[in-house]
Amino acid sequence: MRIPIMAGNWKMNCDNEEAWQLAAAIADQVGDVQNCEMILCPPATALTTVLAAIEDTNIGLGAQNIFWEESGAYTGELSGPMLVSCGCEYVIIGHSERRGRFGAPDEDFTAELQKVFGDTDASVNRKIKAALSYELTPIVCVGELLSERQAGQTDEVVTSQVHAALDGLAADQIDLLVFAYEPVWAIGTGEVCDAGEANRVLGLIRSLLAEATSDSVAQEIRILYGGSVKPDNIVGLMQQPEIDGGLVGGAALQADSFGELISAAAASMG
Ligand code: 13P
Repeated sequence: MRIPIMAGNWKMNCDNEEAWQLAAAIADQVGDVQNCEMILCPPATALTTVLAAIEDTNIGLGAQNIFWEESGAYTGELSGPMLVSCGCEYVIIGHSERRGRFGAPDEDFTAELQKVFGDTDASVNRKIKAALSYELTPIVCVGELLSERQAGQTDEVVTSQVHAALDGLAADQIDLLVFAYEPVWAIGTGEVCDAGEANRVLGLIRSLLAEATSDSVAQEIRILYGGSVKPDNIVGLMQQPEIDGGLVGGAALQADSFGELISAAAASMG
Protein backbone atom coordinates (compact mmCIF):
# COMPACT_ATOMS: atom_id res chain seq x y z
CA MET A 1 0.00 0.00 0.00
CA ARG A 2 1.42 3.38 -0.98
CA ILE A 3 1.40 5.97 1.85
CA PRO A 4 -0.23 9.14 0.49
CA ILE A 5 1.67 12.41 0.30
CA MET A 6 0.27 15.88 0.81
CA ALA A 7 2.82 18.50 -0.19
CA GLY A 8 2.29 22.25 0.10
CA ASN A 9 4.07 24.30 -2.52
CA TRP A 10 4.05 27.78 -1.04
CA LYS A 11 5.56 29.24 -4.24
CA MET A 12 6.65 32.90 -3.78
CA ASN A 13 4.55 33.51 -0.68
CA CYS A 14 5.31 34.18 3.00
CA ASP A 15 8.02 36.29 4.53
CA ASN A 16 9.70 34.76 7.58
CA GLU A 17 7.10 35.93 10.07
CA GLU A 18 4.22 34.65 7.92
CA ALA A 19 6.07 31.40 7.27
CA TRP A 20 6.54 30.84 10.98
CA GLN A 21 2.86 31.51 11.71
CA LEU A 22 1.63 29.22 8.94
CA ALA A 23 4.04 26.36 9.65
CA ALA A 24 3.39 26.55 13.40
CA ALA A 25 -0.39 26.46 12.83
CA ILE A 26 -0.07 23.46 10.48
CA ALA A 27 2.24 21.70 12.97
CA ASP A 28 -0.29 22.34 15.70
CA GLN A 29 -3.19 20.90 13.69
CA VAL A 30 -1.69 17.89 11.96
CA GLY A 31 1.89 17.50 13.22
CA ASP A 32 1.22 14.04 14.64
CA VAL A 33 -0.75 12.58 11.70
CA GLN A 34 0.73 9.23 10.67
CA ASN A 35 -1.07 7.89 7.62
CA CYS A 36 0.05 10.69 5.32
CA GLU A 37 3.52 11.93 4.43
CA MET A 38 3.28 15.71 4.94
CA ILE A 39 5.68 18.09 3.24
CA LEU A 40 6.01 21.87 3.37
CA CYS A 41 7.90 23.59 0.53
CA PRO A 42 8.32 27.24 1.52
CA PRO A 43 10.44 29.72 -0.42
CA ALA A 44 14.19 29.23 0.18
CA THR A 45 14.34 32.30 2.43
CA ALA A 46 11.99 30.61 4.91
CA LEU A 47 13.38 27.05 4.92
CA THR A 48 15.15 27.32 8.26
CA THR A 49 12.22 29.19 9.84
CA VAL A 50 9.83 26.44 8.78
CA LEU A 51 12.28 23.76 9.89
CA ALA A 52 12.22 25.23 13.40
CA ALA A 53 8.41 25.33 13.39
CA ILE A 54 8.02 21.66 12.37
CA GLU A 55 10.67 20.27 14.68
CA ASP A 56 9.41 17.19 16.56
CA THR A 57 6.46 16.70 14.16
CA ASN A 58 5.90 14.21 11.33
CA ILE A 59 6.10 17.03 8.77
CA GLY A 60 9.01 17.10 6.33
CA LEU A 61 10.66 20.01 4.55
CA GLY A 62 11.14 20.50 0.81
CA ALA A 63 12.64 23.13 -1.48
CA GLN A 64 11.07 24.43 -4.68
CA ASN A 65 14.14 24.12 -6.91
CA ILE A 66 17.77 22.97 -6.98
CA PHE A 67 20.80 23.59 -9.17
CA TRP A 68 22.93 20.61 -10.10
CA GLU A 69 26.41 21.96 -9.34
CA GLU A 70 27.72 21.59 -5.81
CA SER A 71 29.07 25.14 -5.47
CA GLY A 72 30.64 27.86 -7.58
CA ALA A 73 29.92 30.96 -9.62
CA TYR A 74 26.16 30.45 -10.08
CA THR A 75 24.66 33.64 -8.67
CA GLY A 76 21.26 33.12 -7.14
CA GLU A 77 21.25 29.33 -7.37
CA LEU A 78 21.00 26.81 -4.54
CA SER A 79 22.87 23.52 -4.44
CA GLY A 80 21.92 20.14 -3.00
CA PRO A 81 24.30 20.46 -0.01
CA MET A 82 22.83 23.89 0.78
CA LEU A 83 19.30 22.50 0.77
CA VAL A 84 20.33 19.53 2.90
CA SER A 85 22.01 21.90 5.37
CA CYS A 86 18.66 23.73 5.72
CA GLY A 87 16.97 20.46 6.66
CA CYS A 88 15.38 19.65 3.30
CA GLU A 89 14.49 16.05 2.51
CA TYR A 90 12.53 16.77 -0.69
CA VAL A 91 12.80 19.09 -3.67
CA ILE A 92 10.21 20.01 -6.29
CA ILE A 93 11.78 19.70 -9.75
CA GLY A 94 10.39 20.87 -13.08
CA HIS A 95 7.30 22.67 -11.83
CA SER A 96 5.55 24.16 -14.86
CA GLU A 97 6.26 27.64 -13.47
CA ARG A 98 9.99 26.85 -13.37
CA ARG A 99 9.66 25.61 -16.94
CA GLY A 100 8.12 29.02 -17.78
CA ARG A 101 4.86 27.30 -18.70
CA PHE A 102 2.08 29.32 -17.09
CA GLY A 103 -1.66 29.17 -17.64
CA ALA A 104 -3.45 31.93 -19.57
CA PRO A 105 -0.23 33.06 -21.23
CA ASP A 106 0.35 36.35 -22.88
CA GLU A 107 2.51 35.49 -25.92
CA ASP A 108 5.21 38.18 -25.49
CA PHE A 109 5.39 37.81 -21.78
CA THR A 110 5.60 34.02 -22.00
CA ALA A 111 8.79 34.28 -24.01
CA GLU A 112 10.30 36.46 -21.25
CA LEU A 113 9.08 34.08 -18.53
CA GLN A 114 10.66 31.13 -20.30
CA LYS A 115 13.98 32.98 -20.40
CA VAL A 116 13.80 33.87 -16.71
CA PHE A 117 12.64 30.49 -15.39
CA GLY A 118 14.12 28.42 -18.12
CA ASP A 119 13.86 24.80 -16.96
CA THR A 120 13.91 22.38 -19.87
CA ASP A 121 13.48 18.61 -20.04
CA ALA A 122 17.29 18.36 -20.00
CA SER A 123 17.78 20.60 -16.95
CA VAL A 124 14.99 18.77 -15.12
CA ASN A 125 16.85 15.50 -15.73
CA ARG A 126 20.12 16.96 -14.41
CA LYS A 127 18.38 18.35 -11.35
CA ILE A 128 16.80 14.97 -10.58
CA LYS A 129 20.21 13.27 -10.75
CA ALA A 130 21.75 15.98 -8.52
CA ALA A 131 18.94 15.72 -5.97
CA LEU A 132 19.30 11.94 -5.79
CA SER A 133 23.05 12.22 -5.29
CA TYR A 134 22.40 14.28 -2.13
CA GLU A 135 19.65 11.94 -0.96
CA LEU A 136 16.93 14.50 -1.57
CA THR A 137 13.64 13.04 -2.81
CA PRO A 138 12.70 14.70 -6.10
CA ILE A 139 9.04 15.58 -6.63
CA VAL A 140 9.07 15.63 -10.43
CA CYS A 141 6.34 17.71 -12.09
CA VAL A 142 4.86 17.10 -15.52
CA GLY A 143 1.73 18.40 -17.22
CA GLU A 144 0.29 19.86 -20.39
CA LEU A 145 -0.82 23.38 -21.32
CA LEU A 146 -4.46 24.07 -22.15
CA SER A 147 -3.54 24.48 -25.83
CA GLU A 148 -1.85 21.06 -25.77
CA ARG A 149 -4.89 19.44 -24.16
CA GLN A 150 -7.19 21.07 -26.70
CA ALA A 151 -4.98 19.76 -29.48
CA GLY A 152 -5.29 16.23 -28.07
CA GLN A 153 -1.59 16.16 -27.12
CA THR A 154 -1.88 15.50 -23.38
CA ASP A 155 -0.53 11.96 -23.44
CA GLU A 156 2.25 12.83 -25.88
CA VAL A 157 3.43 15.81 -23.78
CA VAL A 158 3.30 13.90 -20.50
CA THR A 159 5.03 10.88 -22.04
CA SER A 160 7.89 12.93 -23.42
CA GLN A 161 8.34 14.84 -20.14
CA VAL A 162 8.42 11.57 -18.16
CA HIS A 163 10.84 9.91 -20.62
CA ALA A 164 13.17 12.93 -20.47
CA ALA A 165 13.01 13.02 -16.66
CA LEU A 166 14.00 9.34 -16.44
CA ASP A 167 16.81 9.50 -18.99
CA GLY A 168 19.91 7.70 -17.70
CA LEU A 169 18.36 6.72 -14.36
CA ALA A 170 18.61 3.16 -13.07
CA ALA A 171 15.56 1.33 -11.71
CA ASP A 172 16.80 1.71 -8.14
CA GLN A 173 16.94 5.49 -8.66
CA ILE A 174 13.54 5.72 -10.34
CA ASP A 175 12.18 3.84 -7.34
CA LEU A 176 13.09 6.86 -5.15
CA LEU A 177 11.16 9.44 -7.18
CA VAL A 178 7.80 11.03 -6.52
CA PHE A 179 5.89 12.27 -9.58
CA ALA A 180 3.24 15.00 -9.75
CA TYR A 181 0.88 15.42 -12.67
CA GLU A 182 -0.07 19.09 -12.76
CA PRO A 183 -2.05 20.12 -15.84
CA VAL A 184 -1.01 23.75 -16.31
CA TRP A 185 -4.57 24.88 -17.02
CA ALA A 186 -5.68 23.61 -13.60
CA ILE A 187 -3.02 25.49 -11.62
CA GLY A 188 -4.40 28.42 -9.65
CA THR A 189 -7.55 28.55 -11.79
CA GLY A 190 -10.04 26.76 -9.56
CA GLU A 191 -10.61 24.38 -12.50
CA VAL A 192 -9.62 21.04 -11.05
CA CYS A 193 -9.03 18.23 -13.54
CA ASP A 194 -11.85 15.69 -13.56
CA ALA A 195 -10.82 13.01 -11.04
CA GLY A 196 -11.30 10.16 -13.52
CA GLU A 197 -9.21 11.93 -16.14
CA ALA A 198 -6.47 12.71 -13.61
CA ASN A 199 -6.53 9.03 -12.67
CA ARG A 200 -6.16 8.07 -16.32
CA VAL A 201 -3.10 10.30 -16.83
CA LEU A 202 -1.53 9.05 -13.60
CA GLY A 203 -2.11 5.51 -14.87
CA LEU A 204 -0.26 6.46 -18.05
CA ILE A 205 2.65 7.80 -15.96
CA ARG A 206 2.69 4.59 -13.91
CA SER A 207 2.77 2.50 -17.08
CA LEU A 208 5.77 4.53 -18.31
CA LEU A 209 7.48 3.97 -14.96
CA ALA A 210 6.76 0.25 -15.26
CA GLU A 211 8.31 0.15 -18.75
CA ALA A 212 11.43 1.88 -17.36
CA THR A 213 11.66 -0.40 -14.32
CA SER A 214 9.17 -3.19 -13.60
CA ASP A 215 5.54 -3.50 -12.58
CA SER A 216 6.48 -4.08 -8.96
CA VAL A 217 8.73 -1.00 -8.77
CA ALA A 218 6.13 1.18 -10.51
CA GLN A 219 3.51 0.04 -8.02
CA GLU A 220 5.64 1.49 -5.19
CA ILE A 221 6.12 4.97 -6.68
CA ARG A 222 3.86 7.74 -5.40
CA ILE A 223 2.22 9.85 -8.10
CA LEU A 224 0.43 13.01 -7.01
CA TYR A 225 -2.14 15.21 -8.66
CA GLY A 226 -1.77 19.01 -8.51
CA GLY A 227 -3.93 21.86 -9.79
CA SER A 228 -6.72 23.51 -7.76
CA VAL A 229 -6.78 20.77 -5.11
CA LYS A 230 -9.19 22.01 -2.43
CA PRO A 231 -11.00 20.58 0.60
CA ASP A 232 -14.17 20.20 -1.50
CA ASN A 233 -12.57 18.05 -4.21
CA ILE A 234 -9.92 16.09 -2.29
CA VAL A 235 -12.14 13.17 -1.31
CA GLY A 236 -13.10 12.43 -4.92
CA LEU A 237 -9.47 12.69 -6.01
CA MET A 238 -8.21 10.41 -3.23
CA GLN A 239 -10.84 7.78 -4.14
CA GLN A 240 -9.07 7.26 -7.46
CA PRO A 241 -6.77 4.24 -7.32
CA GLU A 242 -3.79 5.89 -9.04
CA ILE A 243 -3.85 9.18 -7.10
CA ASP A 244 -1.46 8.99 -4.16
CA GLY A 245 -1.94 12.52 -2.85
CA GLY A 246 -1.63 16.13 -3.84
CA LEU A 247 0.83 18.88 -4.65
CA VAL A 248 -1.05 21.92 -3.46
CA GLY A 249 -0.60 25.65 -4.01
CA GLY A 250 -3.34 28.02 -2.84
CA ALA A 251 -5.04 25.67 -0.38
CA ALA A 252 -1.68 24.98 1.30
CA LEU A 253 -1.39 28.62 2.38
CA GLN A 254 -4.02 28.29 5.11
CA ALA A 255 -3.58 25.89 7.99
CA ASP A 256 -7.26 24.96 8.08
CA SER A 257 -7.57 24.00 4.42
CA PHE A 258 -4.20 22.23 4.30
CA GLY A 259 -5.16 20.38 7.48
CA GLU A 260 -8.40 19.22 5.84
CA LEU A 261 -6.48 17.94 2.82
CA ILE A 262 -4.13 15.99 5.08
CA SER A 263 -7.00 14.49 7.05
CA ALA A 264 -8.71 13.41 3.81
CA ALA A 265 -5.51 11.86 2.46
CA ALA A 266 -4.84 10.04 5.73
CA ALA A 267 -8.46 8.82 5.86
CA SER A 268 -8.10 7.38 2.33
CA MET A 269 -5.75 4.81 3.84
CA GLY A 270 -8.87 3.30 5.46
P1 13P B 1 -2.91 25.46 -6.94
O1 13P B 1 -3.23 24.41 -5.90
O2 13P B 1 -2.91 26.85 -6.39
O3 13P B 1 -3.72 25.29 -8.17
O4 13P B 1 -1.36 25.20 -7.36
C1 13P B 1 -0.99 23.93 -7.75
C2 13P B 1 0.49 23.90 -7.90
O5 13P B 1 1.04 24.46 -8.82
C3 13P B 1 1.25 23.17 -6.87
O6 13P B 1 2.58 22.98 -7.26
